[in-house]
Amino acid sequence: MAVHEIKHPLVQHKLSILREKEISTKRFRELAGEIGALLTYEATANFETELVTVDCWSGPAEVEKLKGKKVTVVPILRAGIGMLDGVLEMMPSAKISVVGLYRDEETFEPVYYFEKLVKDIDQRVAMIIDPMLATGGSFIATVDLLKKAGCTKIMGLFLVAAPEGVAKVQEAHPDVDLYVASVDSHLNENAYIIPGLGDAGDKIFGTR
Ligand code: PRP
Ligand code: URA
Repeated sequence: MAVHEIKHPLVQHKLSILREKEISTKRFRELAGEIGALLTYEATANFETELVTVDCWSGPAEVEKLKGKKVTVVPILRAGIGMLDGVLEMMPSAKISVVGLYRDEETFEPVYYFEKLVKDIDQRVAMIIDPMLATGGSFIATVDLLKKAGCTKIMGLFLVAAPEGVAKVQEAHPDVDLYVASVDSHLNENAYIIPGLGDAGDKIFGTR
């Protein structure tokens, strides 16, 4: 498994603003989407293309188009929704599969409550999106669920990850690549990422 920490200056600048304590809901949402778009750009860099001929103004022209498998974006509810608009700006035709999980406040274990997957998920690349990879429990549960549905090509996009969660994912799903704006320092005693963003879902939905 590869962990791609995207050090692009635009990503790092936007993430710095996202970390500010007094950030508004509106600004947090905008930046979560914008970073989501930039992570998507990086995560799709190795997608295969094929040569096709199009009827261009000057006559037939050989051009490159995306080849083969299509994508399904998989936001983990709730907070994953916060990155969705940005991701879809890069891939407007992608189909969406939704997985609902929340983290138990005492055990930090993911609790499942919803799923609605596209029917042909076994033929698609699944791009799971969630602002936070903390213990890794929610992401691992989502990958388990997608693999059970027949999905074989899965990647994860996160704004911020903890090294503890990355290690757990590496162990559970070595075939899954991660794209993150930052791998932060550590988890605190409440399994929150430090320095992190705080509660990303609350910030995106205005429920803090
Ligand atoms: C957050 C976050 C991830 C999960 C990460 O969701 O959006 O889904 O926690 O933690 P983990 O890696 O330890 O599993 P939360 O449970 O707060 O739910 P929400 O999106 O509904 O706010
Ligand atoms: N969920 C969040 O929203 N933030 C964290 O730091 C950990 C889990």
